[in-house]
Amino acid sequence: MSANMESTIMEKIVSLCKRKGFIFQSSEIYGGITSCYDYGPLGVEMKKNIKDYWWKNMVQYRSDIEGLDAAILMHPRVWEASGHIAGFTDPLVDCKKCKHRFRADQVDTPGVCPDCGGELTAERQFNLMFKTFMGPVEDAAAIVYLRPETAQGIYVNFLNVQQAARRKIPFGIAQIGKAFRNEITPGNFTFRTREFEQMEMQFFVKPGTDKEWFEYWKERRIQWYYKLGIDKDKLRFHQHNEKELAHYATAAYDIEYQFPFGTMELEGIHNRTDFDLTKHKEYSGKELSYFEEATKERFIPYIIETSAGCDRTLLTTLIDSYEEQELDNDTRIVLHLAPHIAPIKAAVFPLVKRDGMPELAHKIVDSLRLNYMVFYDESGAVGRRYRRQDEVGTPFCITVDSQSLDDQTVTIRDRDTMQQDRISLDKIAQYIAEKVAVPQI
Ligand code: GAP
Repeated sequence: MSANMESTIMEKIVSLCKRKGFIFQSSEIYGGITSCYDYGPLGVEMKKNIKDYWWKNMVQYRSDIEGLDAAILMHPRVWEASGHIAGFTDPLVDCKKCKHRFRADQVDTPGVCPDCGGELTAERQFNLMFKTFMGPVEDAAAIVYLRPETAQGIYVNFLNVQQAARRKIPFGIAQIGKAFRNEITPGNFTFRTREFEQMEMQFFVKPGTDKEWFEYWKERRIQWYYKLGIDKDKLRFHQHNEKELAHYATAAYDIEYQFPFGTMELEGIHNRTDFDLTKHKEYSGKELSYFEEATKERFIPYIIETSAGCDRTLLTTLIDSYEEQELDNDTRIVLHLAPHIAPIKAAVFPLVKRDGMPELAHKIVDSLRLNYMVFYDESGAVGRRYRRQDEVGTPFCITVDSQSLDDQTVTIRDRDTMQQDRISLDKIAQYIAEKVAVPQI
């Protein structure tokens, strides 16, 4: 695929997102703010569905993981203990000529500006954490940070959760929430932004069992993407080498996806050893070790972390599911989204706006909307209505026609096969429920 074609696909996705209400540029009427995005009516539903799919598989469907929702602002000592104040930096260089700014590790020829060939400054270490002040006084004592990862909220609550939920090791704590990084080079739409949402799980294990659990979670997590319907051939593992490893990890794999702009990370799976709990024990002065009743051993648990990006997953599903088909002298755009993450599960159409068809269609909408997002549409030819739903990934379109009034049946059209089945009204709810259920990995 040529570079031009690749950029066209991204342009098409960005345009579709705005046109249909998945994603908007933040503060657009003021000219926008770099790398910040707002999720529109369809985007917010889809994001909710992705988080639900993650939560169900990481918490609800399991018996060994608890949920948590920790605050974004934390005690500043947390970030000293975690190593983020000293080490969460990227090497920054500026072009002396065009003034463009780069991450030094992303420049092909050291010292030379990739944009204009000008001379680059020496590297400076740039901390990626956003700072702000707590309370009315803006001095050094009042500095707090917007969390750059949700993980630390879990570590500082390790004992709270373990004791409150009366957990024995091994067990995990899962959390979904916002994280902030003052990235030097954000870009590729929502792929790298300065504000994003993470879905992280920290699994606490006995030292010595960590390698086994690491392998277990690697496998579970790739399965999660497979069941999201993402093309298996475009997913792969990438093992971190010594230079790539984060300051807290002894082993790490990324799950990567072949994006149109390169093969990049979707999720990180890390063996964080006892690094985090040891540091928090040292900096807080609180005992964070665990006593194993069965063996009478006391130890600091090792942590296996799975860290996924919600925004990145959503972008991946849009790119991966996008298809253009030439059909009846027209271009049919379809998002083949997995039904469980599609923003609208079913659209209901009266074939015509009379003879009691709208009334029956509304009745169907009212009964389904107690469980799902459904959409009523009576405007334009039914073919156009199908196309509008295909473009936003709605898996099922239900049409009420004259036969419906006689025999209490409707047609259900499948987005992917375009096949229409006729089913009775009392079977609709079960039909949809089976197809859109959140799968278990
Ligand atoms: N707690 C470990 C951690 O934060 P990470 O590899 O830095 O690990 C995990 O981040 C995931 O968070 C990434 O795989 C990605 O999906 C998402 N992520 C990280 N930085 C991001 C950014 N600037 N914009 C969007 N998503 C990001």
